[in-house]
Amino acid sequence: MHRRFAARFCSFACLASLATTACAQRPTDAIHVDDVSHVFRIDAGDMTYEFGVNEDKRLQTIYWGEHLSEKDHPQSPKASQGMSSFDSSRNTTPQEFGAWGGGLYVEPDLKITFPDGNRDLDLRYVSHSMHDGVLSVQMKDISLTVVVTLQYKVDDATGIVGRRALIENGTGKPFIIESASSATWNLPRGTNYILRYLSGRWAGEWTVNDQNVKPGKTILESRRGTTGAQNNPWFSIRRNDTTEENGEVWFGGLAWGGSWQIAVEQDAVQQVRVTGGYNPFDFGYHLKAGATLETPWFYAGHTSHGLGDASRRMHRLEMDTLVPHAPHEKLRPVLYNSWEATEFKVDEAGQEALAEKAAAIGAERFVMDDGWFGARNNDHAGLGDWTVNPQKFPNGLKPLIDKVHSLHMDFGLWVEPEMVNPDSDLYRKHPDWALNFSGRPRTEGRNQLVLNLAREDVRQYVFTFLDKLLTENDIAFLKWDYNRNWSEPGWPAVAPEEQKNVYVDFIHNFYGILAELRKKHPNVEIESCSGGGSRVDLGVIGLTDEVWPSDNTDAFDRLRIQNGFTQAYAPGIMMAWVTDSPTWVNQRTLSLPYRFLSSMQGSLGIGANLTKFTPEELNTSQKMIAEYKNIRETAQRGELYRLVYPTDGSEEAVTESVSRDKQQAVLFTFLHSSTELYPYPRVFLRGLDPDRIYSLSSIYGKASDETPASATGSYWMHHGINIELRGDFQAAAFVLQGVSH
Ligand code: GLA
Repeated sequence: MHRRFAARFCSFACLASLATTACAQRPTDAIHVDDVSHVFRIDAGDMTYEFGVNEDKRLQTIYWGEHLSEKDHPQSPKASQGMSSFDSSRNTTPQEFGAWGGGLYVEPDLKITFPDGNRDLDLRYVSHSMHDGVLSVQMKDISLTVVVTLQYKVDDATGIVGRRALIENGTGKPFIIESASSATWNLPRGTNYILRYLSGRWAGEWTVNDQNVKPGKTILESRRGTTGAQNNPWFSIRRNDTTEENGEVWFGGLAWGGSWQIAVEQDAVQQVRVTGGYNPFDFGYHLKAGATLETPWFYAGHTSHGLGDASRRMHRLEMDTLVPHAPHEKLRPVLYNSWEATEFKVDEAGQEALAEKAAAIGAERFVMDDGWFGARNNDHAGLGDWTVNPQKFPNGLKPLIDKVHSLHMDFGLWVEPEMVNPDSDLYRKHPDWALNFSGRPRTEGRNQLVLNLAREDVRQYVFTFLDKLLTENDIAFLKWDYNRNWSEPGWPAVAPEEQKNVYVDFIHNFYGILAELRKKHPNVEIESCSGGGSRVDLGVIGLTDEVWPSDNTDAFDRLRIQNGFTQAYAPGIMMAWVTDSPTWVNQRTLSLPYRFLSSMQGSLGIGANLTKFTPEELNTSQKMIAEYKNIRETAQRGELYRLVYPTDGSEEAVTESVSRDKQQAVLFTFLHSSTELYPYPRVFLRGLDPDRIYSLSSIYGKASDETPASATGSYWMHHGINIELRGDFQAAAFVLQGVSH
């Protein structure tokens, strides 16, 4: 008997029951269950994923890769016999979700300590069901009532599968979960794989790293209580002959903004597994009798069309399914942000002067950054005291907001809700609200401590002040910052055995506040910022509208940063500001057009001190912003082709974005430094309709004289364009507009 379930893919937030947005109702026919062989098969977006119940009643991966023909009938999986007395069947069988017990040495998906000291767990298949587009497969321990439900959902367009596990304690007594993953993804057995992952630090996020997958294990992780920039919860694994445009890639990301881990392991039988979920380091979730722990969604996909296509699939998933208003997220407005211009020296007159200039060049949103509240004149004091500073704004925020509205912009505000300066009224009143171990030092970062958002009183405080701020003021946008990571993650107010629940409960409350605020203030948009790009993951993307990739706003450094960011995340959520030159980061001087073209590849913002701009600079800015508005839908929502990476010693960087209907493409070209009289390499476009005629026009810079004014997509892709770029730090950009079909 062969049953097909009508499946559909709902947004992360929707399924986590945390957000307000409705599920995208996209019926599919993607998940099939064969009730005889007990094989589950997912076919979507030219991918097939297959797993089943083996003779031991354990769940086993059968296949994950290019779409298989329907003619290939499902075969029940057979457990491996094991290698030797050293590596038993449980180690060498590619389990979908392996519980720790019975001598399992590979990365376990679940490890529990029971009150009687038992730590052995053996999960076997019990039943399955389908509800609201999610396939749930239940497993239970051989003797204890520990029920684990594996959930699967699939995005039709991209073939990206979402998986997570629900761990239910039916034993009648509490137990401690020492590690819990969302899923293990088993790749075809092999040794010819290359892992790509992202690393970084403050002002240097999004570095692309490639390494061969060798026997042993590579751990990508954050132990910081938050996503972190040191690794991002994203991976891609490719065959070693795969390129940007061709070949197989398996890729994925974890929807979790707390401490996380992704383990990439090649085991004794050359099976490659990717296991991801909560970071087991310092983990110990106290699960009460009758309670359930949900693990985060872990999304993963497959393509046979290279690293570029893997990224484009992730972008499409994010923009069409995960972001709060998907698939109808509005385009990112051009924003102005005051931070680099004024830092903490904000006041009514100064902000209004900036707002006038910002409106004149075409900004659509004005955002006042840090410094507007409490005794916040520098980063030593005031965090936590969310009342308007009366010296800086004697009549509250209203005059400034009214002024911004009169200039036809909407108004945004910076907040950092989860933090407190010890020098604040909030901390003087509630020193116990910070994460801490009783009687131990409290390590500060940027002179601040982390509030324990897992506490109900802290959750209430944070929600209430934000709700009040949004209710009393006409605010369209919050830049939600988070400027340090955890230390001393204690929670002395609860019993010692429950204190480590902070790793999960904090993040659930963070998501809960975002969801509740969005519900009550549905028109407010939110940016996730964490001293730059330290809180970017598929979890926060489901509850915010854009992210800040880095405090590094040097337009040349940004080319590398954006190249790394877009491996995993869409340009449509990537905020990029044009700031002053020389930059504070490297003291590098870059032309204003160069700075604009670097930022125009994502969601454009302006962060420069416009009161110091010359009339000519203001003119250039106005022109570039007008050009951006003409191509922003393509830049934000189009298909991104990274034609030349700005890394590995390259003197060039080239990206191209093609609109979904292929009517427009925008090409951005950058030259670091000319050498030895070489001309700029010819640029070959991609992704155009070969038969359509496209006209070429310049946003900035010149194509060589022989370039036709219009030609077919095929011409631009195969003949290519010669671009006149010579010198140091040069840039040019062009629009290809479809004129007929
Ligand atoms: C962080 C952010 C910056 C700015 C400052 C304000 O560093 O990343 O953009 O908002 O905080 O203190």
